[in-house]
Amino acid sequence: MSHDRFVSRHIGPGENEIKEMLEAVGVSSMEELIEQTVPANIRLKEPLELAEGLTERRYYRKILSLAAKNKVFNTYIGMGYYDTITPAVILRNVLENPVWYTSYTPYQAEISQGRLEALLNYQTMICELTGMEIANASLLDEATAAAEAMIMMFNLRSRKMVKDNVRVLLVDDKMWPQTHDVLKTRALPLGIELKIVPKDKFEFSEDVFGLLIQYPNSDGEVPDYSELVEKAHTKEIKVAVAADLLSLAILVPPGEWGADIVFGNSQRFGVPMGYGGPHAAFFTAREEFKRSMPGRIIGITKDIHGNRALRMALQTREQHIKREKATSNICTAQALLATMAGFFGVYHGPEGIIQIARRIHNIAALLAGEIEKLGYRQLNINYFDTIRFDLPKHVKREDIEWLSLELEMNFRYFENGEVGISIDETTNREDMNWILEVFAKAANKTWPVVTEYPMGFGIDKKFARTTGFMKQEVFNKYRSETEMVRYIKRLEHKDISLTHSMISLGSCTMKLNAATEMLPLSWIEFNGIHPFVPKNQARGYQEMMEELRRDLAVITGMEDVSLMPNSGAAGEYAGLMVIHAYHKSRGEAQRDVVLIPSSAHGTNPASAVMAGLKVVVVACDEKGNIDLADVRKKAEEYKDTLSALMVTYPSTHGVFESSIVEMCEVIHQNGGQVYMDGANMNAQVGLTSPGLIGADVCHLNLHKTFAIPHGGGGPGVGPIAVAQHLVGFLPSHPVMNNGHVGINAVAAAPWGSASVLTITYGYIKMMGARGLREATEMAILNANYIAKALEKNYGILYTGEKGRVAHEMILECRHLKNTTGITETDIAKRLMDYGFHAPTLSFPVHGTLMVEPTESESKQELDRFIDALNAIYAEIREIEEGRADKEDNVLKNAPHTAEVVSADDWKHNYSRTKAAYPLEWIRENKFWVPVGRVDNAWGDRHLICTCGSPEEYELLSQD
Ligand SMILES: Cc1ncc(COP(=O)(O)O)c(C=O)c1O
Repeated sequence: MSHDRFVSRHIGPGENEIKEMLEAVGVSSMEELIEQTVPANIRLKEPLELAEGLTERRYYRKILSLAAKNKVFNTYIGMGYYDTITPAVILRNVLENPVWYTSYTPYQAEISQGRLEALLNYQTMICELTGMEIANASLLDEATAAAEAMIMMFNLRSRKMVKDNVRVLLVDDKMWPQTHDVLKTRALPLGIELKIVPKDKFEFSEDVFGLLIQYPNSDGEVPDYSELVEKAHTKEIKVAVAADLLSLAILVPPGEWGADIVFGNSQRFGVPMGYGGPHAAFFTAREEFKRSMPGRIIGITKDIHGNRALRMALQTREQHIKREKATSNICTAQALLATMAGFFGVYHGPEGIIQIARRIHNIAALLAGEIEKLGYRQLNINYFDTIRFDLPKHVKREDIEWLSLELEMNFRYFENGEVGISIDETTNREDMNWILEVFAKAANKTWPVVTEYPMGFGIDKKFARTTGFMKQEVFNKYRSETEMVRYIKRLEHKDISLTHSMISLGSCTMKLNAATEMLPLSWIEFNGIHPFVPKNQARGYQEMMEELRRDLAVITGMEDVSLMPNSGAAGEYAGLMVIHAYHKSRGEAQRDVVLIPSSAHGTNPASAVMAGLKVVVVACDEKGNIDLADVRKKAEEYKDTLSALMVTYPSTHGVFESSIVEMCEVIHQNGGQVYMDGANMNAQVGLTSPGLIGADVCHLNLHKTFAIPHGGGGPGVGPIAVAQHLVGFLPSHPVMNNGHVGINAVAAAPWGSASVLTITYGYIKMMGARGLREATEMAILNANYIAKALEKNYGILYTGEKGRVAHEMILECRHLKNTTGITETDIAKRLMDYGFHAPTLSFPVHGTLMVEPTESESKQELDRFIDALNAIYAEIREIEEGRADKEDNVLKNAPHTAEVVSADDWKHNYSRTKAAYPLEWIRENKFWVPVGRVDNAWGDRHLICTCGSPEEYELLSQD
């Protein structure tokens, strides 16, 4: 191994181990294994046309030089993105901490209590600030949250409204342009009619089901909406409000003036702008609508011992996405960013947040007054942070622009010639003086130097918040850094992440997120840039994204890539809409049927429904392969209306199906397009590609194959790659030219979550063409090594023609249930006692476990995992053979907490050692679960989704 080759740090097994593993698998070389696994007709003949991998040091220099090409100006553009100060204690201990960023979505509640608590804090903070009753644990961004609000209101129509085909949504024309654009994209396929007009022109006619407004609005004005809302409610019209979260610390929150849904961006709560993302959108509603909420909701429940525990409520897990009956396709969201925002709330508490908000307002108010003295007219009557100026006749907008650029500042320029300034948490006295200097110089005047922070500019009483918020203990306890860091650590210690052991979640690709890939995220040159600054201030970003698009196109065998979608499911949606636009351009808009295999991930049919398509399910045969005859039959049956086939490859069953090329041909022969779900690209890169196989569009989960960490449930990035004939339909952006001119935007930011693209960029640059291929081969070897070692005890549900699995496998567990009553859940919980996160549970086949080791796991770690599963199998055999009790056994009682194991009273039929240390090596790195098995049903019966409420104490004190 070369000591400085990144690939050998990224890939777990070393040369000698690879030899041993190949032998164990029963092949003489890697090439032989790959030949037996990947069908010959789809193998790439040439290496990927990418540069060779860089060492970490050389990459570091490269990314530093790109960073230097980004210019960090003081940006007062606003429009949904604001500079903020990430408290260093949060930056270092959360954003830069692999425990927080490498953990997975908290399906396995017992080993996720830390992140569940952090997200519960976030939900509580959101409810408190908005004055609403129930919040989810984040959505992708403000614009897509607006679309979710629209769809939720549409679904909440009364029976009569549905019968009368009521489908008009009134939208204030003073919302962000990117919100309007995404609403247009999302409304069209669902037949929702948008009326985007000034709010004074809203007509509450019989065909209206909802209202969307923004507070403060896109001009920065704070309108009084109370009468409007009251009027809407008298007509059974629902009201959703996009709100600036920080403003709600000092403005009357929408919950107090009757909103049904409140949503927005929580970026200002300590999450850097990052040239557009990632940030957590928040989403809240009234309690009565809780069952219609999109996204994941964290709730309180009890564990088996009656102790308080947290888990995802209402089964908001992706396996439960209701396929074609879904009302949203949200799966991965923005958990890490929500966690950061929640910690920002914990760190500052209500007084700190009020102080930040007041200071912002005071600065805006002082500037408004001083600039008016220079002859400008400030147009906003009531405002929070944004002032807007009409220029005097003798002042040219261009003068303001160049003067501000000279001083490295960006203002907002309205189409009608007005100039806007949005103040943020970072604005200081020096900045105020620079702003004044620009306005004074442009007007040929002198200006007074501000020497003190302004105080005492109150908001008009009518709009001033009078109610308290965030009184819960957690927001009022941790002010010193010492206390804060201990609180963060306390939560961290409750969770299993990749820093503890391998996370073998099938379909999730929990590979290494290398430290070098993560470093640039903390640099101001990447995280301090507003997405709407002139492109010449973001040359480093533009160059990086250009190269990344090209590299991803090469890897996928496609022509071009849109980086805009913020998750895999968002990519699916975008891809299907691109396909629809293509059909429409050819006069075939009637093509609205999408074929989806029964084994598909729930987001596939959900995205199809969101795209207005009809889902036709195609069957799988007894070997787990998509039934080609059924594909042919249905493609022919629907040949006049066929839009696409959505297919995951290798399949969700972990197999390279050899009929894939034929399947693509059948679809094309019948006028359809092939959409490839790229969740399993980790088994393709460098060996084959969606383009070569015959797909027209594919999305990539950069948060799987391309090293972006999962962050406890997001961020995600789901770019779509398309063949040449679809390039012209890739999503555009209403504010920035993102290089594409096709469908309306599918996300708020022009290049999606741009800052985390640096991770994927680093991964590709350091791996290089050869390293990427080696990673794929290794992922396949690791999977086959595990399959070989576990097949005897568990059985591998599906294999390819030559008996090989791809990069993941399904372990059969149903026979164990039949003989012993032990379920896949019991095995998953028992694995926690061994220090492991469970594999994917009951997806894609009920009653099974799906294991994906990835290339990053070493042979030692794979062996530990194999030992654990085989030891668990032996424990199951004890039950089968009557040596262990059917009910009181290590599996049914798993996981075992330290409290249980150390209690004076031990009533079980097995020893404490067996409970806690079933294998000797566990002693070295014991993970103690903080709670016993959680009771999901109890939590759903008593839904509590905020912390510290009186109901919580009352209910938990009951038995
Ligand atoms: C096969 C497959 N498709 C789609 C998705 C959805 O991706 P995301 O969670 O990024 O929306 C997943 C997520 O796990 C998946 O496994």
